[in-house]
Amino acid sequence: MSLDAEKKIAVHCRNIIKTYGTGASEVFALRGADLDVYEGELLMLVGPSGCGKTTFISIFTALLSADGGECDILGKDLNTLSSDQKVHLRAKSIGFVFQAFNLLPALTAQENVAVPLLIQGVGRKVAMQEAKLVLDSVGLGARSSALPAELSGGMQQRVAIARALVHHPKLIVCDEPTSSLDHESGHVIMKLLRDIVDNSNTTLIVVTHDDRIYEFADRMAHMDDGKIIKIETMKNQQGIIA
Ligand SMILES: Nc1ncnc2c1ncn2[C@@H]1O[C@H](COP(=O)(O)OP(=O)(O)O)[C@@H](O)[C@H]1O
Ligand SMILES: [Mg+2]
Repeated sequence: MSLDAEKKIAVHCRNIIKTYGTGASEVFALRGADLDVYEGELLMLVGPSGCGKTTFISIFTALLSADGGECDILGKDLNTLSSDQKVHLRAKSIGFVFQAFNLLPALTAQENVAVPLLIQGVGRKVAMQEAKLVLDSVGLGARSSALPAELSGGMQQRVAIARALVHHPKLIVCDEPTSSLDHESGHVIMKLLRDIVDNSNTTLIVVTHDDRIYEFADRMAHMDDGKIIKIETMKNQQGIIA
């Protein structure tokens, strides 16, 4: 992205409020979270455990409804979308890597990765071929026919990442994508994700605690106690204005 280019906003959130439970067990997970993420940038979301990171990304990827606030995602106002429209937006335009991977245990790695394409109506043969290519790119082509239970945690994490990439979504959101990976595998995955951002104007949001990967970010959004408290532009990234 050049300094002069008009920056389009992929994710625009204002004053997002979310509580879980009621009465004595009520938990204020988000207390007015604001965030803008530009198209074609890699933003990392960091903050202490329990500060609301997973809740926040679940809301702006339409997995969870907020109790208050506004969210425009890829030009769509989430408050005005029906459940079906949210499902469609997610299936077509959003890739999500869950902290707990959420792989389907009865499906092979390749079948798991093919699922987003099958949901969109792509034929099984093509979907499986595409899934194999993405598994190759995360270094798991040789384990395509393994079931999740036959794979290590790090391998399952890479299958989950491949599944988030296979339908070429405009927005990719990863919850702690390198937490089960050793340093080298984590670096390979972040390099792959960085290349996707740079080459296809994809927007990538990575929730992480892993300071070994901070160098890949354009900006860091710091979260605490249910709010974004600071946005920092990384020195080594050019062209993104804070
Ligand atoms: N399903 C839930 N039910 C009740 N409380 C929850 C639920 N999910 C998260 N919380 C609480 O909301 C707060 C924010 O959690 P979370 O978004 O998971 O934070 P983070 O991802 O930063 O660790 C925490 O206090 C957590 O215990
Ligand atoms: Mg979390």
